[in-house]
Amino acid sequence: MPARSTAQLAWLCIVIVSMAIHSVLLQKPPKRRTVNGNAQSKMTGCCDEMKELKLQVANLSRMLQELSKKQEGDWVNVVMQVMELEGSTKQMESRLIDAESKYSEMNNQIDIMQLQAAQTVTQTSAVDAVYDCSSLHQRNYRISGVYKLPPDEFLGSPDLEVFCDMETDGGGWTIIQRRKVGLTSFNRDWKQYRDGFGNIRGDFWLGNENIYRLSRRPTVLRVELEDWEGNIRYAQYKQFTLSNEINSYRLFVGNYTGNTGRDSLRYHNNTAFSTKDKDNDKCVDDCAQFRKGGYWYNCCTDSNLNGVYYRKGEHTKNMDGITWYGWHGSTYSLKRVEMKIRPEDFKP
Ligand SMILES: *[C@@H]1O[C@H](CO)[C@@H](O)[C@H](O)[C@H]1NC(C)=O
Ligand SMILES: *[C@@H]1O[C@H](CO)[C@@H](O)[C@H](O)[C@H]1NC(C)=O
Ligand SMILES: *[C@@H]1O[C@H](CO)[C@@H](O)[C@H](O)[C@H]1NC(C)=O
Repeated sequence: MPARSTAQLAWLCIVIVSMAIHSVLLQKPPKRRTVNGNAQSKMTGCCDEMKELKLQVANLSRMLQELSKKQEGDWVNVVMQVMELEGSTKQMESRLIDAESKYSEMNNQIDIMQLQAAQTVTQTSAVDAVYDCSSLHQRNYRISGVYKLPPDEFLGSPDLEVFCDMETDGGGWTIIQRRKVGLTSFNRDWKQYRDGFGNIRGDFWLGNENIYRLSRRPTVLRVELEDWEGNIRYAQYKQFTLSNEINSYRLFVGNYTGNTGRDSLRYHNNTAFSTKDKDNDKCVDDCAQFRKGGYWYNCCTDSNLNGVYYRKGEHTKNMDGITWYGWHGSTYSLKRVEMKIRPEDFKP
């Protein structure tokens, strides 16, 4: 389009200039005739007119030049924009390819791991039983990913699929919660929070019963947070425990270490778990309804890690998002969260 209009402009220029010249030529002969009659005054009159015409032509062509310059400027802008668009499309494409190759690599890893996990199940003995990801780590499983834990005969619970973080701070972490994709609703009922929900490779809650089972030994809880600017923070607690279901999976945490600004889980210490259908909070209000998640609601929150997932742009508008008041306040919903546990006596 801009190329065509520049061409049109050039044509217009030629037409106008030639018309101007034409009119000069047309006007010349009669003036020559009059020049023959009155010598000097008519000569100067002719030349003045000629000059004026020339000036007008010059003026016109200058205006045309200016116009086409401006058009060129616009054209360059458009080209730049198109190039920019192409650039970002290429970036997106390469990112997609990247993600796809990572995904297939992940699938391969998962296959390997499921084989490995099957082995651990058959190898289980009372001496070095597999309880969690830290036991797998001690048996030299060092790749982060999905593993299957054998049934817990003591509690009579079946085998359990878990995601192990074998890298962070020495590894051996069993992930109990993850928010990063944002498509899984965390506004669930008591039974779903008890048994767990979501996708072990994406967003999930491992289940209060499972978390209870995995934290019977002295346990460390690590909370990792990422904001929409890509900053990453963590909070870590010794003496992490959940009570059993009869005691509403009450949360206990010890002293905080980390870099999340302020400890925003302490407020939820010694508090029972609440869901939309089971109000165990310490408030007249029904916190689970307000904050749209299942959590150890006090009255109500200093953090709301099972809140609503809001995307960039929408992430600062509501109180029911995935919040950690001590870092970004009550109306900033985080981009990524992971909660993970391992025994206190774990040695990398
Ligand atoms: C050029 O055109 C402008 C606007 O029409 C006019 O003001 C100016 O006097 C013209 N200049 C000459 C040299 O004709
Ligand atoms: C959490 O609550 C328990 C029980 O009241 C208490 O023993 C413990 O010290 C508390 N933790 C913190 C960090 O205050
Ligand atoms: C936790 O912090 C309190 C207050 O700073 C301190 O008195 C207590 O000894 C700490 N507990 C542990 C286990 O470090």
